[in-house]
Amino acid sequence: MSRKNIRLTEKLEEYIFRNSVRESPAFRKLRDETGTLAQANMQISPEEGQFLGLLAKLSGAKRILEIGTFTGYSSLCFASALPDDGVLLCCDISETWTDIARKYWKETGLEHKIRLRLGSALETLQILLDSDSFPDWASGFAFGRSSIDLVFLDADKENYPHYYPLILELLKPGGLLIVDNVLWDGSVADVSHQEPSTIAIRKLNETIFRDNSVDISMVPIADGISLIRKL
Ligand SMILES: C[S@@+](CC[C@H](N)C(=O)[O-])C[C@H]1O[C@@H](n2cnc3c(N)ncnc32)[C@H](O)[C@@H]1O
Repeated sequence: MSRKNIRLTEKLEEYIFRNSVRESPAFRKLRDETGTLAQANMQISPEEGQFLGLLAKLSGAKRILEIGTFTGYSSLCFASALPDDGVLLCCDISETWTDIARKYWKETGLEHKIRLRLGSALETLQILLDSDSFPDWASGFAFGRSSIDLVFLDADKENYPHYYPLILELLKPGGLLIVDNVLWDGSVADVSHQEPSTIAIRKLNETIFRDNSVDISMVPIADGISLIRKL
């Protein structure tokens, strides 16, 4: 029995890309445009994006919440995986970056499935949990307690531990939480790394591991993602 994952050389990464990634021209264009930004490394990879879309389809999700949209790559992956009556609620604080996302939602014809909420995502989640009647930006789709099929967490790492209990309350039983960057470039396993972001990701990883109310799998794809299914 082996506990080892295959080590990815550049050659193997290229092989995976060439033999599995089916990226449409608009997705590629968004990657190229984002590549010109100083923050381009925040964007998920096309391999990860395709994996996220597949998970959304496999789970049959109709209501998806994305925390951390940036220029929109993951949102395109989720929205294109949703059925026509599905909804993706995107949360971000940046109007500038999500303006780029909006452009591609329009260009890909996915706009009708996507809503954007600008502002602190912690506040947004709290509003969704508190509201008996939904605020304007949430009217027309019922995102509330135990209502969401899939959540993708990819925003400010320092707040990861604070997002977790709120997300669990918003998820339906059987719903799926996908947390990005759980390996944080390997720093989670290196005690010399004591940055607030690393500490917070470690804390969330430990909380999830101890939480018997969920099924879990930590998957070493991209920067590491955890799959968490609410029981
Ligand atoms: C890693 S990027 C998301 C990448 C995106 N999922 C993609 O596929 O390209 C993180 C995003 O979280 C947003 N963010 C940071 N702090 C936030 C907060 N407190 N509330 C909401 N969004 C936040 C940032 O503006 C940024 O766009």
